[in-house]
Amino acid sequence: MDYLQITGGAKLSGAIDISGAKNSALPVIAATILSDQPVTLTNLPNVVDIRTLLKLLTILGGEVEHEAETAKINNATMNSTKAVYEIVSKMRASILVLGPLLARFGECEVSLPGGCAIGQRPIDLHLKALEAMGAKIEIKGGYVRAEAPEGGLHGAKIVFDKITVGGTENTVMAAALAHGKTTIVNAAKEPEITQLCEMIASADVKIEGIGSSEITIEGTGGKPLIFNEPIEIIPDRIEAGTYLCAAAITGSTVTLNKVDAEHINASLAKLESMGCRFDIAENAITIHSPDRLRPVNIITTEYPGFPTDMQAQFMALATMAIGESIIEERLFENRFMHVSELNRLGADIWLKGNIAAVRPVAQLFGADVMATDLRASSALVLAALVAKGVTNVRRIYHLDRGYDNLEGKLSQLGAKIERLRE
Ligand code: EPZ
Repeated sequence: MDYLQITGGAKLSGAIDISGAKNSALPVIAATILSDQPVTLTNLPNVVDIRTLLKLLTILGGEVEHEAETAKINNATMNSTKAVYEIVSKMRASILVLGPLLARFGECEVSLPGGCAIGQRPIDLHLKALEAMGAKIEIKGGYVRAEAPEGGLHGAKIVFDKITVGGTENTVMAAALAHGKTTIVNAAKEPEITQLCEMIASADVKIEGIGSSEITIEGTGGKPLIFNEPIEIIPDRIEAGTYLCAAAITGSTVTLNKVDAEHINASLAKLESMGCRFDIAENAITIHSPDRLRPVNIITTEYPGFPTDMQAQFMALATMAIGESIIEERLFENRFMHVSELNRLGADIWLKGNIAAVRPVAQLFGADVMATDLRASSALVLAALVAKGVTNVRRIYHLDRGYDNLEGKLSQLGAKIERLRE
C-alpha cells in the first residue's frame, strides 16, 4: 500500500494550477445519463472517484473514452439501470445516478450507500423528493428500487427539511426530464449545483433561480437532453483552499492559478483573520502568510458559509496559531477523526461533542499517522509540512479519491514529500 513520507520544515514558493472540482464533476458525469447523444467533459480532475463513476457508466452500458482531463461519454447504448453494490460501496456519490436513471428509463435499482467515516449520511431527502415526483420507492436487498409512474415523473413542489447538496442535485436531474414544473425550496447553493443547473440549462431546459435557494425547472416531459457544447468543470474550491492552508501553515507566499476566488470567500476571510494577505487577479490568487498565525473561530455551514470540507485543514492550521481556536462542526456528526491523529503529531486539541478547542503548541513532531477520510488526510499532510522530522501518512487511498497529484503539486512548491510503497 502507498504512503506519503513528508519531512517537515520546508518553506513553499512558486505557483501551481488548481484542478477541476471533483464534487462538480461527479454530478456532471451523472447528468450525462439524461442524454442519449455524445457529451464531452473537460477539465476533469485525475482522481479515483471520477474514474469510479465513469466505470459505473460503462457497467450500465454507456461508452466512455477517458484521456487526461477529457471524457467523451455516449449513453445512447445504456442498457442497464442497476448501480451495483461493488461500485456504490466504493463511492457513495454513486447515488447521484438515481435521479437521472429514473428520469430517463422510468425505473432503476441503486445500491443503498451505507454510512461513512464522517457520519451516517442518510439519503431520505433524495427519496422523498423523487416520491413527490410520483416515484414508487422500496428498499429491498440493500438496494433502492425506484419506479416512475406510467408516462414518467411529474413536476412537484419540493421543500427540503434540511439543505442537501446531493439531494438537490438528484432532484434537479430528475426534474429536467419530468413532465411540468418542479420547484425546489431550501435548495443547496454550492457552485457545484450552479454548474449542474447551467449544464442542464445549456440543453434548452428552462431553469430559474440558479445559484439561489429556490430553483424552478421546466422538465422536457421525457425527452432526453442534447449537450452540444463541451462542459468544462469548474475549479476545485476545496483543493484551492487546501493549498492556501499549505502556504499559511508554512508561512509561505504561493500563487494558485486556474482558481475562482468568488467560490472561496469563506476560507479567504478566515485566513485573513489569521493574518494572511492576498493578491487576487482574474483566475489567480497569491497568498502571503505571516510568521505566526492568529487563532480562528469556525462554525461549518452550507455554502456560502464556511465549508465542512475545509474544517480539518483549518484545524491543522489552528494547531500552529498563537492562541486557542474553537471549531464547531455542524454538518456531519463524526467529522473529527483527524483530531486524535493530529494529537499524535503533538497538537493539543480537546474535543467535546461537535466542538473542538485547539490550543497552541510550540512545535509539532513527525510521527506515523493514518488517514481516515479525504479531508482528514489532507489535514495530516498540512500538519506534516511543519512537523519537525519525518511523518508517514498511511492509507492515502482516501487522498487519491479527491486530490489530483497532491504530492506532485506540493513538491513543485518545494515541499519534501514522496510517495512510497510499504
Ligand atoms: C456533499 O455531500 C459533498 N460530496 C461532500 O464532500 C460535502 O461534505 C457535503 O456535500 C456538504 O457540503 C459531494 O459533493 C460528492 P449533503 P452530500 O447531502 O451531498 C444530511 C468531500 O470531502 N442529509 O449536503 O452527501 C447529511 O447527513 C465530500 O469531498 C440527510 O439528513 O452532503 C448531512 O448531515 C465529503 N438526508 C447534511 O444533510 C439526506 O437525504 C448535508 O449533507 C441527505 C443529507
